[in-house]
Amino acid sequence: LSKPVLVLGAGGHAAVIVDILRQLQVEILGIVATNQPKDTLVFDGIPYFSKDDDVLRFSKDKILLVNGIGSMPGSNIRSALHEFFKQAGYNFMTIVAPSATVSNYTILAEGSQLLPGCIINTNAQIGVSTIVNTGAIIEHDCIIGNHNHVAPGVVLSGGVMTDEYVHIGTGAQVIQNIKIGAYTLIGAGASVTKNLDSNKTLYAAKPFLR
Ligand SMILES: CC(C)(COP(=O)(O)OP(=O)(O)OC[C@H]1O[C@@H](n2cnc3c(N)ncnc32)[C@H](O)[C@@H]1OP(=O)(O)O)[C@@H](O)C(=O)NCCC(=O)NCCS
Repeated sequence: LSKPVLVLGAGGHAAVIVDILRQLQVEILGIVATNQPKDTLVFDGIPYFSKDDDVLRFSKDKILLVNGIGSMPGSNIRSALHEFFKQAGYNFMTIVAPSATVSNYTILAEGSQLLPGCIINTNAQIGVSTIVNTGAIIEHDCIIGNHNHVAPGVVLSGGVMTDEYVHIGTGAQVIQNIKIGAYTLIGAGASVTKNLDSNKTLYAAKPFLR
């Protein structure tokens, strides 16, 4: 069983994560966020702390942190919080939704988060604090870097490798053995058939009417 947790963030991603934590019957000591959690059922009854410093009142040996900040292109809040609290000696819980299908022959790094219905196949590796979002498929032998976001419904064929801080947008597909450089952003719906350098943005081909 996991140690009790504090959840950082109170937006949409945090709500999904709290939902999973409740299914896993993990004790949630509180939500830490600058904005008060929305008045939704999923946050009901969880104590609220308004400052990051409130975390420091909890012993780093007795709790785990859960990063409930979502990861969108161009924002580094999620990874900055991870680095800040790692420096302070805290550890992050690795989360696997009960409905995720995860091979026993995968390596999940600290703080990675596998959301409902995703599939991670044999010999895949998921990096530190990386989100594999709802329904994404990560095929065998993929190596996904640290601080990536694999958005809902993405399909990665076997042997895909990504460097750190890659975002693969909703519904994108990547063929086998492709390599994607750091900070590269794959737009929603794009099909990737060639290796991509770092710091690039790939847009999907646009539909047109005539
Ligand atoms: C690629 C992306 C970052 C584009 O950002 P941007 O350059 O700021 O895009 P804008 O919204 O300014 O749109 C610029 C143009 O690109 C188009 N465009 C936006 N996203 C696109 C995409 N994924 N593929 C193709 N064209 C796209 C827009 O329609 C717009 O076209 P127009 O100039 O003809 O009107 C973004 O749209 C995207 O795909 N983000 C990923 C979303 C995601 O994964 N969400 C997950 C949430 S959990």
